[in-house]
Amino acid sequence: MKKTIVCGIFALMTAAMASTALAQPVNYNSTVAMPERGLTIHFLGADNGMVRITGDGKYVLLPVEESAPDAYIRVDVNSKLEHEFNCRLAQTKVDYYVPFDLTPYRKLGKVLLDMRHPHEGRNSRPAREAMWAKHIKLSNTFDTKNTEKFRPLLHFTPIYGWMNDPNGMVYKDGEYHLSFQYGPYGSTWNNMTWGHAVSRDMITWEQLDHIIIPNGLGAIFSGSSVVDKNNTAGFGRDAIIAIFTSAGHKQIQSLAYSNDNGRTYKIYDGNPIISSDKECRDPNMFWNEKTGRWNLVLASPLEHEDIFYSSTNLKDWTFESSFGKGYGCQEGIWECPDLMQLPVRGTNEKKWVLVCNINPGFIYGGSGTQYFIGEFDGHKFTCDDAPGVTKWMDWGKDHYATVSWANAPQDRHLAIAWMSNWQYADRVPTMQFRSANSIPRELDLFRDDDGKLQMGVNPVKEFDSYRGTAIKYGSFAFNNKAVSKALPKENDGVCDIVLDLNAGSATQVDITLSNSLGEKVVMTYDIEARKFSMDRRKSGITDFSAEFPGVTAAPAPKGKQQSLRLIIDRSSIEAFDGQGRFAMTNLVFPNEPYNTITVAASKGKGKVTNLTVYPLKPGH
Ligand code: FRU
Repeated sequence: MKKTIVCGIFALMTAAMASTALAQPVNYNSTVAMPERGLTIHFLGADNGMVRITGDGKYVLLPVEESAPDAYIRVDVNSKLEHEFNCRLAQTKVDYYVPFDLTPYRKLGKVLLDMRHPHEGRNSRPAREAMWAKHIKLSNTFDTKNTEKFRPLLHFTPIYGWMNDPNGMVYKDGEYHLSFQYGPYGSTWNNMTWGHAVSRDMITWEQLDHIIIPNGLGAIFSGSSVVDKNNTAGFGRDAIIAIFTSAGHKQIQSLAYSNDNGRTYKIYDGNPIISSDKECRDPNMFWNEKTGRWNLVLASPLEHEDIFYSSTNLKDWTFESSFGKGYGCQEGIWECPDLMQLPVRGTNEKKWVLVCNINPGFIYGGSGTQYFIGEFDGHKFTCDDAPGVTKWMDWGKDHYATVSWANAPQDRHLAIAWMSNWQYADRVPTMQFRSANSIPRELDLFRDDDGKLQMGVNPVKEFDSYRGTAIKYGSFAFNNKAVSKALPKENDGVCDIVLDLNAGSATQVDITLSNSLGEKVVMTYDIEARKFSMDRRKSGITDFSAEFPGVTAAPAPKGKQQSLRLIIDRSSIEAFDGQGRFAMTNLVFPNEPYNTITVAASKGKGKVTNLTVYPLKPGH
């Protein structure tokens, strides 16, 4: 009996030892030299890979997998931490590569990228076996060829990576500058940096190096830029001054300046220049001719307020007042304000307009741009409308973070929007890049049919020079039998359509864009209800988000005569009333380009008096 017990214990011990041996952790530590890829990786356990740069090459090409969790990367030079960022390093497959430019770090010494690799969870692997370790490499070039069928032809998109708000837009010496909230290491929001592009006409853009990267004060959130013509800040005559939100422990406002036409920026050593105990962001500044001082407006998102400041030197700011409590749409949070003075069409009158982006809370869900018309004396904004009135600048679902260019020539008021919606921006069916901006728009004010002041929004006239030879379809009658016209063959999902109609006895007119797969976008004028709507429920790929399919509607001008302009650029439709009395921006993802336009009335009959389609030419 005793023996049996002893034997039994022995047997148990042997089994336990055997299972311990099985469960013994794999030793993942190893050092693998990969001279052909220009690097050596020290694998330290399952969750760490230190990539030592040993070869030549401007970039490290980082393999990314969209669905992987974020890896945390530290850039050490001679053991000093110089930079840090997150990247969804590929675990099981490589979706695409993003370049990390080594140039600034190589100058300082020996570079090591220390990757903290999340190895737990579905689809993850120990660092040594992860796809990024198998494919990471040095290279002097980065392939920027477009790989996306939904990439627009004439709307700004980053060559690769994630983009949200337009930032720091300023005109100087013949160039329009466009910075943007940029996530350079993958196509989802992260590592917010100011990307940078320049253009001579706001349509053809050249993307340059990023200008402001995250630093010790935090990530670089939205902000604005001005030209300091009189050197009020002391950084030099005509310096470009950028003020933006540093999003670190708190949201504080920081300044940077450029003395080389916006190519490079120096961070001011007196930052922060504005701080508050509340969340505050997206500073937008301008020179106020009347008071001879700078003004700045800052969003207080959670309070639903915009806060006004003034300054003589762009560095020291005095609080003036705030506006917002109870006004306009009070849902969600208020972000990205802009304040400007706009002319009233056909008069010498000018009014102040406060642009206020909100998210969520837009009338059709998620992100949208509202505005307030009133007076501003350099200290206080007074709204002409009663608190409950909400005015939308664009009636589509993909128009957010709209802000205007500083120092625009000929006193023009030029604005651009991020053409997406926070409800689904990171799920749209593109991968190499995410998000485009709207076509830049020229703003003014007009009196609507009820005598109320509204914002007028028209595509900038520079866009017209991208039109190819007009294809005229003449005039034709329509009734409840649909009249269809084929769009030009060269359309390829990109065209500019002008359609004028007289609704006649028809009370409802449908204008449909469709393709041979049965995908369609139906736009409807409801003449009596004075409404224009766009239905993208069957527009193509819509299932990436339940918030995407839907119908948006805008107030249309009164009467039977309507004039519509549609700018279609592969994955977007921007609809404008012919005189800019409404604008509606919606994304669409058709599996093949819409190649037919159809006009029909549900009852009665009407006439299309002009249908002209312009093919659009690539950038020049
Ligand atoms: C608006 C916004 C801003 C912020 C930025 C961060 O889309 O939330 O308020 O500065 O995006 O990327």
